[in-house]
Order: sequence, then structure tokens, then C-alpha cells
Amino acid sequence: MINVGIIGVGRIGRVHGESISKFVPNARVKAVADPFLNDNSIAWAKSMGIEETYTDYKKILADPEIQAVLICASTDMHSPLSIEAIQAGKHVFCEKPIDHDVNKIKEVLDVVAKSRLKYQVGFNRRFDHNFKAVKEAVAAGKIGKQQIIKITSRDPEPPSIDYVKVSGGIFLDMTIHDFDMVRYLSGSEVTEVYAVGSVTVDPAIGEAGDVDTAVITLKLANGATAVIDNCRQSVYGYDQRAEVFGTEGCVAISNDSDSNAVISNKDGVTAEKPMFFFLERYMMAYANEVKSFVDAIENDTETIVNANDGLQPVLIGLAAKKSVEEGRPVTIKEIADSYGL
Ligand SMILES: NC(=O)c1ccc[n+]([C@@H]2O[C@H](COP(=O)([O-])OP(=O)(O)OC[C@H]3O[C@@H](n4cnc5c(N)ncnc54)[C@H](O)[C@@H]3O)[C@@H](O)[C@H]2O)c1
Repeated sequence: MINVGIIGVGRIGRVHGESISKFVPNARVKAVADPFLNDNSIAWAKSMGIEETYTDYKKILADPEIQAVLICASTDMHSPLSIEAIQAGKHVFCEKPIDHDVNKIKEVLDVVAKSRLKYQVGFNRRFDHNFKAVKEAVAAGKIGKQQIIKITSRDPEPPSIDYVKVSGGIFLDMTIHDFDMVRYLSGSEVTEVYAVGSVTVDPAIGEAGDVDTAVITLKLANGATAVIDNCRQSVYGYDQRAEVFGTEGCVAISNDSDSNAVISNKDGVTAEKPMFFFLERYMMAYANEVKSFVDAIENDTETIVNANDGLQPVLIGLAAKKSVEEGRPVTIKEIADSYGL
């Protein structure tokens, strides 16, 4: 049994807390910490059977009975908390992204490399049943040599403007999952990025210095080309599709919906909309990723999403941002070189 502490019990911290209580029998949440604990979060913790609730995360790090922490605080806290937790001897599951600043990610990678502790980054889509099936088909050679990878990723509604301002921009906040998916499905590294961005949803997003719609073309080391399309608003729900096309065939996944009922009548043929958003679509993926992290600790195996997997999509995201700003293709090497990587 692995004792876990959760640092940050907002939206995603609670998702992981609930997942552990329902789906991870070899772990229990011993304590949670959040500087803004309130009656609601304390009641939530009690309802999950979590006895210890703190406003100071240092109490979790000082508890010798806690072997692992889940860092679910706001993004600016991920890298300092990662370093402090590893130095306190805890295995770490860190929500994405590790940081927006590559120099800070490098510091985390150094500390992780010097430890014998597990480190996993929260790229939950690798644990989704559909994306995993695509990965397995590609890895088994069922579509031959990869030629084109297509990912569609559109949110049902944009976040608040306050969130947009601190999000790091669409590429580091939203597309980062798709960059990870391109690396995961292909098993290859991205070498060059050409991105086009526009504001088609809300002018306030443009005024905040971001784009809300983007198409990104990526060259891969294995010779394949990937295309990602993103939009912060999709009126029919969370649109999450992928396709890998190769010399021997093609593997594709469509959206999940609450049921696969199709109504056919005189007006036409109607199917259900995709599930609303990530909490609905990826609930089991979140449970599977935390289970995988706990299993890696128990069995002393590698985590499925390691610290380098946390770094690479940030480099790709920075290349995409630069590509939009300068209207040209940007290599990952150019970004990596600028950080001495
Ligand atoms: N993998 C995913 O699909 C996914 C989904 C949602 C959010 N996230 C990531 O998770 C993180 C949190 O997002 P959220 O939506 O849960 O945000 P949120 O605002 O709902 O929750 C963040 C919580 O962190 C707490 N916090 C802030 N500073 C802290 C500190 N020093 N110690 C402990 N707690 C602290 C806040 O009080 C808040 O309760 C973000 O980095 C986000 O990118 C990932």
C-alpha cells in the first residue's frame, strides 16, 4: 500500500483523489494540502476518507509515512514543488506542464536524474483507451511505415480571460497534450514546427496576447508529418480525434459519447454529441495514469511519462509560438540550442 499526499485540491487534485479512492486499491490518500482550503474542500476530503487536511504542503513533505506526492497546484508551483518533494525523498506525479520556463524544467530533470525516485508527468491521454489502441496498432506495425498523423483537438468552450493570461498561451496550455500525443503515437521525436494561429472565438483572447484557433504542422524524425488542429470552442462538445496513416493502412479513432444510439427518422439520422469536456471524456484515463504511477513505485519500474516527456512538448510549444510570431518554420534544435540542451 502506497501512502499518497495531494498538493493542491482544486479541479484536478480532486479528480486524482477520487480516482485513487475508487480505482487504485494499492494506494490511499493520507493527506491533502492547499493554502486556500475552505469548508467545501475539507468536506470533500472527509467524504473521500482523507483524514489530514493542511494549508501548508510542507507537512506532507515532512511525513515519513507518505511515499508519493501528486502535485496538482497551479502551474507556477510545479517545478519548485517537484524539486522540494524529490529532495524530501518522495516519488512525484506532477501535473502538466512541469513549467513554462525551460531552465526551470532543466533543474527538475537534474534533481530527478540524481535521485532513485519515480517522476511522472500528467499527460493523461496516453492512458485513454482509444489513443492507447492507436499506439498499439502503430507499434505492432499494422499500418506499416508512418506517413501522416492527424490530431483534432477542440475544446467545447474557452477558459476565462484571467486563465488565458496566466496559461502560457494555447500551445503550452492546450496543444501541449497534442504534442505529447504525436510523440506517443509515433514513438518518434518532432524536429520542426510550422504553426498558423488566429483569433476566431473571442477578441479578448487576442487582446490578452494569445490565439484561440491554430493549425500546426510537425516534421518527425521518422519521416512522417503530423497535423494538429485546435480551437478553443466547439459547439458540439469536446472534439478529440486521431488518425495515423501509413504504407500498409490507417488507424483512426472517433469521439466517445454517452451512448452510441443513432436515431433515424423522417428528418434524418442523428447520433449523440461527443462527451462535454475532459472531465467526462478522460475520467478513466486519469484513474489509469495514477494507477500506473503507483504500480511503477510498487514494482520499481519506469513511469510511462517520464521527466523528459515533460520537457519535449514544452520545446515543441515554444517552437510553435515562435513560428506564429515570426511566420516561419522553427526547428526544435533552434529552441533546444537556445537553452543549452
Ligand atoms: N492533465 C490534465 O488534463 C489537466 C487538467 C486540468 C488541469 N491540469 C493542470 O493541473 C493544474 C491545476 O489545475 P486545476 O484546473 O486543478 O486548477 P485549480 O485552480 O482548480 O486548482 C489549483 C489548486 O492549487 C492550489 N494551490 C495554489 N498554490 C498552492 C500551493 N503552494 N500549495 C498547494 N496548493 C496550492 C489552489 O488553491 C487551487 O486549489 C494546472 O497546472 C493545470 O495545467 C491538468
